[in-house]
Amino acid sequence: MKTILIAAILAWLAVFALAAEKPAPAAIGESCIVVENTRAEKVVTLSAAELAKLPHAEVEAAVGDARRKYSGVPLAELLHVAGVEWGGKCSPLLTCYVLVESADGYRVMFAIPEVDPQQRRQMVILADRCDGQPLSAEVGPYETIEADAKERGRWVKHVKSISLQVAARQRSRSHERQEPAVAHTTGEPGKIYLAGMGPGDAELVTFKAAKALKEADCVFCFDYLEDEVARYAPAAKITVAAPLLMGRAAGRNPAQLSPEMRKELEQSKEEHARFVTKVRKFVAAGKTVVFADAGDPTIYCPWSWITEEFADLRPTVVPGLSSFNAANAALVQSITRNSGSVLISAGEDLGMPDKNGRLKTTLVFFTHRAKLKELAPRLLARYAADTPAAVVCEASYPTQRVVWATLGTLLEKTADQRLPHLYLVYVGDGLKAPAPSVTAAKHD
Ligand SMILES: C[S@@+](CC[C@H](N)C(=O)[O-])C[C@H]1O[C@@H](n2cnc3c(N)ncnc32)[C@H](O)[C@@H]1O
Repeated sequence: MKTILIAAILAWLAVFALAAEKPAPAAIGESCIVVENTRAEKVVTLSAAELAKLPHAEVEAAVGDARRKYSGVPLAELLHVAGVEWGGKCSPLLTCYVLVESADGYRVMFAIPEVDPQQRRQMVILADRCDGQPLSAEVGPYETIEADAKERGRWVKHVKSISLQVAARQRSRSHERQEPAVAHTTGEPGKIYLAGMGPGDAELVTFKAAKALKEADCVFCFDYLEDEVARYAPAAKITVAAPLLMGRAAGRNPAQLSPEMRKELEQSKEEHARFVTKVRKFVAAGKTVVFADAGDPTIYCPWSWITEEFADLRPTVVPGLSSFNAANAALVQSITRNSGSVLISAGEDLGMPDKNGRLKTTLVFFTHRAKLKELAPRLLARYAADTPAAVVCEASYPTQRVVWATLGTLLEKTADQRLPHLYLVYVGDGLKAPAPSVTAAKHD
């Protein structure tokens, strides 16, 4: 009886092991290519038929004494299938690289400017044909061809995968993509914090936000805040969240979105679902999870959905000093004294003139959705040209500056200076340009 039982258990284990085994990686002859975008955590496996349908390009290259004509898919096109958007010289991808791996483990990398079609004329292709014929078994079915190279060190034979990777920083980034352990610790569920990191000046981060980051088991932030978060949280605890989680398209009417934004909306839904499951696992395992963002997390924060999504886990919101606070300080005046009220807007709401056509309320525009060039004419159509206005650039940074104007002169006064990425626009009759002797505190 005992022997039968052991045999049955062994047989069951064998079946279980077979079922649990991951599918074997495709053999060379199977002709599929794995394309990964680690920045967006997206992986696509392309069959030979799918690859054949992608746009091809031809390059000529010397092989020994002969000139050969190779045809294949530019690496840029392949990575685009995995959601990589090529962005030219200011692309955020400039801190990434492209890794090509062969079936036998040979690996080479290409810098982004070598692959980005907006930065380079000569393409690197994943060739599938040479002089009109499929590649030989010696190098194929796919080989990377870098036409203008003197050496062929990056002509990778039997290519199996191509991935966009984020370049590691000087300090150890072994945590990249590595998830914190989720083993149970206390048996108690963990906690969620949504913490504001202030407007930019490190001295404006609250003690409470710093404490939450220090004690966190896992911190999620977007790449623009990673350095700031790393001042307080151990590097190994920081995970840079996929940009898709910012939900640029979320909450918008899909019918009014461009095809690219619709695609982004679909991808972000999948990313969102995976992310929520991951966070719930951490919390169930007793971990403290912190979502960090710049400014105050209740004002146009890309993590704003966290409080609703995890409402059952009772997240704690740690307030932060908003760029609004820092910009008020840069204007060196009370923002309510002369107007009595303030309207914060991202550009959709422009407020209303009073019965004399004047703007009593002070309007404060966050410009992540509506830039000055677009706002100014709309405001001028509604309010008098002599209405005071100010643009506060990079509030609380050492580069902070204020441009004072009226609605009528606003575009002209900012025309000769390129506005930075971060600025707020203030408009209202209550604003008073300070006397020349009054200046805002220096931030250094
Ligand atoms: C997505 S919102 C985030 C706001 C943030 N939660 C806060 O409370 O400041 C980003 C916008 O905030 C404004 N902003 C953020 N930091 C700024 C700064 N230091 N100076 C001026 N404007 C800033 C800009 O208008 C930018 O487009």
